[in-house]
This record gives sequence, C-alpha cells and structure tokens, in this order.
Amino acid sequence: MKETINFNISKFDETLDLDYIKYHGRVERISDGIVFCSGLESAKLHELILIDNKYTGIVLDLSESYLGIGLFEDSPEIKEGMEAVATKQLFKLNASHEQLGTIIDTLGNRIDGGAPISKAVGVPAFNLAQPIMSIEDVSKPLMTGQLIIDALTPIGHGQRQLVLGNRQTGKTQIALETILNQKGKNVRCIYVAIGQKMAYIADIAETLEKSGAMQYTTILSASASTSITMQYLAPYAGMAIAEYWASEGERVVIVFDDLSKHADTYRTISLLFKRPPGREAYPGDIFYIHSSLLERASQLNVDNGSGSISALPIIELLSDDLTAYIPTNIISITDGQLYLKSELFNGGQKPAIATGESVSRVGANAQYPLMQEYSSRLMLIISQYSELKEFLTFDNNISKENLIIIKKGQILLELFKQGVQRGYSEAQELILLYAFKHDHMLDMSIPEIAKFKVILTEKLAAELEFSEYNRVVVEETVLPEPMVAVFDTLIASSREALTCPQQ
Ligand SMILES: Nc1ncnc2c1ncn2[C@@H]1O[C@H](COP(=O)(O)OP(=O)(O)OP(=O)(O)O)[C@@H](O)[C@H]1O
Ligand SMILES: [Mg+2]
Repeated sequence: MKETINFNISKFDETLDLDYIKYHGRVERISDGIVFCSGLESAKLHELILIDNKYTGIVLDLSESYLGIGLFEDSPEIKEGMEAVATKQLFKLNASHEQLGTIIDTLGNRIDGGAPISKAVGVPAFNLAQPIMSIEDVSKPLMTGQLIIDALTPIGHGQRQLVLGNRQTGKTQIALETILNQKGKNVRCIYVAIGQKMAYIADIAETLEKSGAMQYTTILSASASTSITMQYLAPYAGMAIAEYWASEGERVVIVFDDLSKHADTYRTISLLFKRPPGREAYPGDIFYIHSSLLERASQLNVDNGSGSISALPIIELLSDDLTAYIPTNIISITDGQLYLKSELFNGGQKPAIATGESVSRVGANAQYPLMQEYSSRLMLIISQYSELKEFLTFDNNISKENLIIIKKGQILLELFKQGVQRGYSEAQELILLYAFKHDHMLDMSIPEIAKFKVILTEKLAAELEFSEYNRVVVEETVLPEPMVAVFDTLIASSREALTCPQQ
C-alpha cells in the first residue's frame, strides 16, 4: 500500500501521494540549458531526470527551494509547468572497446557518422579515485617522442602532467605528438575536447587517422555547439571510459583540452545556480571539481591488472600568468607541468617548453636507465647556459670554459627543436644525446646542427636493425659495444654528409 499523508491546510484540502512528490516535479524556470524544478524530493545529485517524457537532464544542484537540472540537449521547447520525473538512475555513459577509432559524445555514442557501437557497458561518470592499496608508484616510461620532454621532464604511465601556456603556444600539439608516439606501444589514448569547434576536431581526427593513430585513439568531443551540461560532464565521461579500459589491464593516456574551458563552463553553471562566487568568480568547489577528476589517474598494481591512466590536462594561460586561480590549482593537483611560452614559440624554439619553469615530479623514476644516464646533466647545462647568456650581452671577457657551456647550451636548445609530427623513437633520442655527450657537435654552427640531427636520425631509422636498437636502448643499462660502434659510424657518416651533401 502506498504511503499517504493528509495535509490539513485549508488551501490544499486534499490527500497527497508521498511517492508522487518524491519522484515527480514541475518545471518552474528554464535558463541557459538549466531547468529549475520543484518537487522531486527523492532526487540525488547526478540522477537522471526526464522532463515531459522526452528531454533528459542530470541533477547538478540540490538547493532547498529548487532542483537544478542540466539538460543533455538545449531544448527551447521546455516550458514552465511541464512534468519532471526522477528516474532513480545515476548518470552513466557507454564504454566499449569499439570506441577506439571513433569520435564520440559525452554519452559515449558515436557522432562521426559510423555504425553505432554494438556492445557497451554503462559506466558511472563520477567515480572515486582508486584506493591506495590498488595502485603503485609511477615506474614505466610514457615516451612522448619529444626529446625535450623525454630527456628533461620525463613522464611515466599513471602520471598527471599538466601542459599550460598562452593561446597558440603548441599545447595541443604536445598532446597530439604524445598520442602519435604511442603507435605500436600497446597504449590507448582518449582525447577529450571541451567546447571546441567540430571542424577542429575533424582536423585532429584526420591527422591521427593519416598516421594510423586513430586505431588506438578515441576522441570524445563536447563541442561548443553542445549543451553546457555535456561540456561540463565531458572530462568525467572520458575518465570513466579510461577507467573501464584500465580495469581490463590497458594502459591509457587521456588528454583534457582544455580544463580552463571546463572551469569556465562550471563557473557559468554555478552562477546560474546562484552559488556564491569566490576568487575570479569561480565557485568554492572548483578545486574539488578538478582534483576529483585528476586523482582518478593512476598506475594500478599487478593484483589489479597493471592497467594505468596517465592524464595530460591542458590549461590556457592569460599573459603567461601562472599565478591565476585555475593554473595554480591544477599545478598543485598534478605531478608536474610543461610550461609553454609565447616568447619561445615566436622565437622559433618549438616545442616552446620553458625548461626552468617545467618540472616532472615522478617521471625521472620511470626513465629507462640509459636515458637517465645520458640526460642527467642536461638540466644543469641548460641552467648554467641561461645564466651565462645574460652576461654575454655586456661582458666580452668570458672564460673558455664558460664559452663551452654557452655553446653546449645552444646545441641542446637546437637539438630540442622538433617540428610537427617529427617524433623520435627511443634510439633516435639516445643517439642525439650520445652525440651531444661525446661533443660531436661542438665544432658545428647552429644551422649545421639543425641539419646534422635530421641526417643522423634518418640514417638511424634507415638501419635494418632499427627496431632492435629501440629495444636495446630501453632494456640495457650500459650501451652495448656493437651499438656504440653503430652510433659512432652513423655520427661519422652524418658529419661527412654535412660537408658533402650529395653523399
Ligand atoms: N613543434 C612545433 N613546430 C612547428 N609548429 C608547431 C609546433 N607545435 C605547434 N605548432 C603549430 O603551432 C600552431 C599552434 O599549435 P597548437 O594548436 O598546438 O597550440 P595551442 O596552444 O593548443 O593553441 P590554442 O590556444 O589555440 O589551443 C599550430 O598550427 C601547430 O601546428
Ligand atoms: Mg589547443
């Protein structure tokens, strides 16, 4: 028998069904994709609500007077007085292995025109981080193919590494190069695009497709034309798919492009709910919004299948301001940051990573031994070079040792320049560092070094045993004699090719 209650109020002299007011409500107001409903007393945060039997939304705000519901699709047809029904289901999205190679929306459905996903499981978008007993330290290298990152600020599987910089400084490119470099490495990638144009997403998909990287990648796009709710939920949805794959032992890399837009989306939603604005008008829980997302990235231990989720959140800075609210929050949540500077980018130093301000707190443990050996002194050389460079402008009496440090700094910066889709393999990175360590470029001019590195890495890639070399440099602790011989021979022939280009 249904529970009933008798309201003895003269105005409403009628018997109300308690179940009814628990699960039913009324649309009171609608504003910018958010519906405010009365009733629905049983509704929980993130529960799905059906409006007028047609439109779906998710509970985003539980205030005393109204329930705030974010609509999946902007629906101007929704009117005051329509009925809202609580579904008793928390928001879940589709996760599937079939999502690899596709572009999907926040609900996990294909939006690229391909055949619908046939087999999927429902996964909760909001999840707790893995319990501490299930995870282990970051210890396996996540190679980005970008020498400056792999040598100076290495990333490991399970790490959260922030990429931040002004507009148009190559942030997205860093993430794309990292995705492209996972080819053949048994890693899955998810690129979560928040509030971007669909045409841009199509370009990214095409780039990945052409390089064979879409096979192991899913693009989750909540484009600028989707509802504010879809954009807000997108990173959690991407993370939920990553968790589903990682629970099956997969290594996943997830990119959030970008969390500045995500923070702005959340700010808009919060202002609509009239939550008190805090610093920079962001709501008080904005830190939690991002920490609860990023702490879900981790390296699972053997007992839990050894899967991992590595997160690359992107943040856009305004005028290089690292001290703004959202950047400082995310810097403190992540395990390190790659800071890109417009000044470097415009000066041709691309990727435009500012070495002094970039750091990787756990990645060095994940570097393979030879990379560790060959890159250990590089940061020191770069910082000595940066200091000496200042003197160079007003002091002509520089000692010979200091001139060598300056030259070495210049060589390194030239080696670190890398164009779009010019990722290096492990052995290519190592041969460049080997040539540097053994001073094979000290006598070259900067333009010569630019040519030399291309010739050398191409010659190495043309070797029959190239893939074997890539394996060896990762596995060995000392460079084996035969490899030393190969490296020396290739360096010598590349030097010759510089002087006689026809060779
Ligand atoms: N290493 C590089 N070498 C040459 N060009 C690059 C390099 N990295 C990025 N670019 C180019 O610079 C432009 C901006 O790069 P990208 O889109 O990655 O920057 P962004 O910081 O993500 O920009 P936005 O702020 O608009 O999102 C692109 O045209 C890209 O191809
Ligand atoms: Mg970008």
